[in-house]
Amino acid sequence: MISPIDPSKSLPAPDPVAAAHSARLLNHIRAEIEAANGAIPFVRFMDLALYAPDFGYYRVGTRKFGAGGDFITAPELSPLFSRCLARQCQQILEALEGGMILELGAGTGIMAADILKELRKQDALPERYAILELSGELRERQRRTLHERVPDLLEQVVWLDALPTSGFRGVILGNEVLDALPAECFRVTPQGPRRLMVTWTGVGLGYIEGAEDPAVTTTVAHLEHELGWRLPEGYTSEYVPRLEAWLAAIAEPLTAGALLFIDYGYPRRLYYHPERTVGTLLCHYRHRVHDDPFILVGLQDITVSVDFTAVAEAALAAQLEIAGYTSQNYFLFGCGLMELLAEEMPSDFPLSKHDDEAGEIVNPANSVDYLEQARQVKLLTLPGEMGDRFQAIALTRNLDIPLRGFAFRDERGRL
Ligand SMILES: C[S@@+](CC[C@H](N)C(=O)[O-])C[C@H]1O[C@@H](n2cnc3c(N)ncnc32)[C@H](O)[C@@H]1O
Repeated sequence: MISPIDPSKSLPAPDPVAAAHSARLLNHIRAEIEAANGAIPFVRFMDLALYAPDFGYYRVGTRKFGAGGDFITAPELSPLFSRCLARQCQQILEALEGGMILELGAGTGIMAADILKELRKQDALPERYAILELSGELRERQRRTLHERVPDLLEQVVWLDALPTSGFRGVILGNEVLDALPAECFRVTPQGPRRLMVTWTGVGLGYIEGAEDPAVTTTVAHLEHELGWRLPEGYTSEYVPRLEAWLAAIAEPLTAGALLFIDYGYPRRLYYHPERTVGTLLCHYRHRVHDDPFILVGLQDITVSVDFTAVAEAALAAQLEIAGYTSQNYFLFGCGLMELLAEEMPSDFPLSKHDDEAGEIVNPANSVDYLEQARQVKLLTLPGEMGDRFQAIALTRNLDIPLRGFAFRDERGRL
């Protein structure tokens, strides 16, 4: 996700309805803290803030995506992103001679609409396009988006309440889903790594260090063993305790095909780099980015970057193959981004005075539209923008083809 507003700008105050909603969620969290004798693990707090039924940020509430929301994701930024994904899906579905697409956490539904539109253009529609969405409100929004953009393809789409139990062939997609999985926070102390807990300070929520926790100790020992260095004292970071079980559950029904995740993150050696001493946790609210998860509870997104080495480890544990890993820009180039952009170039581009004088028909609006698409491509691909901050990883089962998204550059060796 990106937030184009200067992060130093102050956070706008929520309206009274939103503030009341946040206060109710805060009371709910305080009650759980009290019931747990004064502190809950950060991972539990993040789960409640994002997913508590009736309260959590992704369960209910205000506009999240796009210019009027909190952040912009790649499919919201440009249809070319989803068209590239469609081309990757097409290659996989052709190799499987059919199959479905399952999208996890489909946001506004715009990616589903643009993928379906592109696949129809290529005469390569999937048997079904399934969406697994936790939020009832977002499901409705997805239905509206699909109805507006591809009304005749709406009957291709099904919303699932749970993962398929068996026999899934096709592609499972997750754009910016991994970063939304609740994370455990830890700090390295002189006594060893300690879990960060969330408590009520009397005026608000705050962190305290927990007692020694076997799961945190084992995980940090594993990280340090794999990294080959000790994390320094005071070092604070995160990991996703549910990642392995979550991925195993998604992989379970897959008989043949691929899982494709795109998200911001790093290979482990960069994630836990000794200089990244305060972790990767960020909050997004009205296009401002900051690192305080304890304000605007339920009204702001909370995310951590993805440790793609941990994703690869979880994939291997789930008997998946790691078929490709690269940065978003190379993935999109491999899927034909520049060819798609070139197709969008109007025949009268670039406009010149000469065209006018010759009395040729020129339409400046086409050129402005094309330049806007070129600007979006820059945001999707430039280093420092989404191009190298976001990564793509493909995990496969019984699919033995070189995936086009990784043809440009495959960096599995960095994991
Ligand atoms: C940052 S949003 C990204 C939305 C959309 N994919 C996009 O790119 O615009 C994160 C999404 O992940 C979904 N999500 C989080 N955990 C999930 C899970 N366990 N299963 C399915 N979706 C999940 C959230 O509900 C939310 O829709």
